[in-house]
Amino acid sequence: MSCDFDKVIDRKNTNSIKWDFAAERGMPEGLISMWVADMDFTAPREVLDDIHRAVEHGIFGYSEVKQDYYDVLAEWFENHYGLKFGRQDVIKTPGVVFGLAACVRALTKPQDAVIIQTPVYYPFYNIIQDNNRKLVTNPLKYENGKYSIDFDDFEKKVKENSVKLFILCSPHNPVSRVWSKDELEHINKICVKYGVIIVSDEIHCDFVYAPYEHTSCGLINVDAIIATSPSKTFNLAGLQAANFIVRNVKYRQLIREEISRTGYSQLNTLGLVACQSAYTHGKKWLERLKEYLTGNIGITRKFISERLPRIHLVEPQGTYLLWLDFSAYGFSQEKLDRLIVQEAGLWLDTGTMFGKEGEGFQRINIACPRTTLETALERLEMVFGRIN
Ligand SMILES: Cc1ncc(COP(=O)(O)O)c(C=O)c1O
Repeated sequence: MSCDFDKVIDRKNTNSIKWDFAAERGMPEGLISMWVADMDFTAPREVLDDIHRAVEHGIFGYSEVKQDYYDVLAEWFENHYGLKFGRQDVIKTPGVVFGLAACVRALTKPQDAVIIQTPVYYPFYNIIQDNNRKLVTNPLKYENGKYSIDFDDFEKKVKENSVKLFILCSPHNPVSRVWSKDELEHINKICVKYGVIIVSDEIHCDFVYAPYEHTSCGLINVDAIIATSPSKTFNLAGLQAANFIVRNVKYRQLIREEISRTGYSQLNTLGLVACQSAYTHGKKWLERLKEYLTGNIGITRKFISERLPRIHLVEPQGTYLLWLDFSAYGFSQEKLDRLIVQEAGLWLDTGTMFGKEGEGFQRINIACPRTTLETALERLEMVFGRIN
């Protein structure tokens, strides 16, 4: 198994949205790119070998998967998280966002209210509003540099708006919280009380750092829909394969019907190959990757506390996306963005992309070789270390 995470791989001229589309996205050339959530590492060797074998076969006709695909998927989630499901419960989709949007359309009606916890992964807003549903937000509480759920506000908003569906982000992007069992039980209790369907986006579940542990919402509520994908875990986003676990028969039928209405049937052949291969062979590689990311987080934490103490790193519990609070500088978001892009030469995700609660923040993707991260941190120091 090769996993040289220190190796800097030139991703330019590969049509990578992270590295090749600065001009198209209104950014200057030459930035260090640490925005969108993919990693600058190659996928596990075994996955590449399986994809190569499929490519060498040379025929890319319509493809499906057999029982062994479902077996490795079920094994992964049962072994890691104790989540149990069978083949019949799995709905394959070309992505998590595609599947979340299908859930919104299948399980709610136009004008129905859907609740999310902000700041949050920005496509959540789009799939609600673009499908003519009412967006209801339950802002996370931010106190003493830490995030928590405002349960009273959640219940009040659910009740006032007759909310039908809750899209949970677990672990949470961008605030990198790993929700505890107690928190999930509490929120679930409110959802059950008011008949709110839970769709839990658990795409980041494989990136949780000790002592935190991922609790799948599927352990708390058998009717919760669990969105999973190998795309973050094994860096396969461009291969377009995700798996939704839907154990409620009625919901499953409605979602299948909705997907059928979109005209989508079989997934990308190579995506299916990669997904099965990753869940079969990827465990050791993932362990090494998590050690590497833990190292990157440690370096960032130390650098910021020693050399950039006015920036607050919200303590990362999960994901490889760190949430940096620059509010102590008192800059407008526009000025903050300008300093990051024009002066520091970094392409991060500006906080307000995740909602107005992201004002004063930037999200940085640390899934890159350590030398890249160190250069980025030094660039931050060059700009922000000088400001009194
Ligand atoms: C919480 C969350 N959900 C979904 C996605 C994207 O999933 P997909 O590419 O499978 O649509 C991301 C990517 O960053 C994410 O952070």
